[in-house]
Amino acid sequence: MTEKYHESDPMSDVISDDYRILQIISRFGIRLGFGDQTVGATCRAAGVDSNTFLTVVNYVKDAAHARISEMAEQIDLPALIAYLKNSHSYFVDFRLPGIRRKLLQALDLTGGNRIPMLILRFYDEYAQEVERHMTFENTHVHPYVETLLQGCLPAETFAEIEEQYDEQHASIEKSLSELKSIIVKYYPSDNNASLMGEVLMDIFMTDEDLHSHCHMEDTLFAECIRRLEHEVRSRGGKPVQEDQEEKTESAQTSDLSEREKEIIVQVVKGLSNKEIAEALFISVNTVMTHRRNISRKLQIRSAAGLTIYAIVNGLVNLDDVQL
Ligand SMILES: [Fe+2]
Ligand SMILES: [Fe+2]
Repeated sequence: MTEKYHESDPMSDVISDDYRILQIISRFGIRLGFGDQTVGATCRAAGVDSNTFLTVVNYVKDAAHARISEMAEQIDLPALIAYLKNSHSYFVDFRLPGIRRKLLQALDLTGGNRIPMLILRFYDEYAQEVERHMTFENTHVHPYVETLLQGCLPAETFAEIEEQYDEQHASIEKSLSELKSIIVKYYPSDNNASLMGEVLMDIFMTDEDLHSHCHMEDTLFAECIRRLEHEVRSRGGKPVQEDQEEKTESAQTSDLSEREKEIIVQVVKGLSNKEIAEALFISVNTVMTHRRNISRKLQIRSAAGLTIYAIVNGLVNLDDVQL
């Protein structure tokens, strides 16, 4: 294969050349079984922007030599956001729970040794940190970009948001390195050496995958957002206040928005407005605006009423409910 992949390359050759592209394909929503079709034809058949797909593939193949400025011109931001969202679901809903299951099998939690229990706790805290970060991106960074795409300027600048997620990326990567090091150095896997070896392999691969994901957000995604922000600003985009944004979203639909459903779930878990604001990276005022909108739409004001609504509509499991 050539250094860079092109639209005319057969998709199956691209995958044979670098197995990591399998993950990219699935996160773009492209299914296997494309026969001898080219990258371009496969993307068109799946309704995926082929320039964005190829740019992501070429970035992952050789991030060290990626020309970010040139690549940013090829990106369709809604397509990249959809890809990043699917990647978040993959990590949070599939990859990290899968590692935990294997870790539970590999760790000997029966004896008096406290190290296995501490390793599990360390892992759970790490997985929660990743989930919080990805929730922040889904509910804060992506809507920020969507506002810019509508030609409006959000109240915060991208530089302010970028600072937060850069810190989170650094912290996530540090935690995973620590976890690898703790297991390698301190866990005596006498009985389950093969199983623990497999878990470690999974953790190393996830580390690489997550590093590539975060690095793309720090470089390519950030460059695309900066350009869009600059463009909207120079066109004199209309400033938008956070609360106005949230109100507009809620007023447009009689159904609950995804954010409103998230708020209900947090209320049902017994969280205060302040705790909900912290968990979802929004202001307390915004939480209150959402709660007013939820009450208006559902005609339900009490936490008990919302709990019943959430159970009946499958927003929560009975186990999550604060009774
Ligand atoms: Fe992300
Ligand atoms: Fe991230």
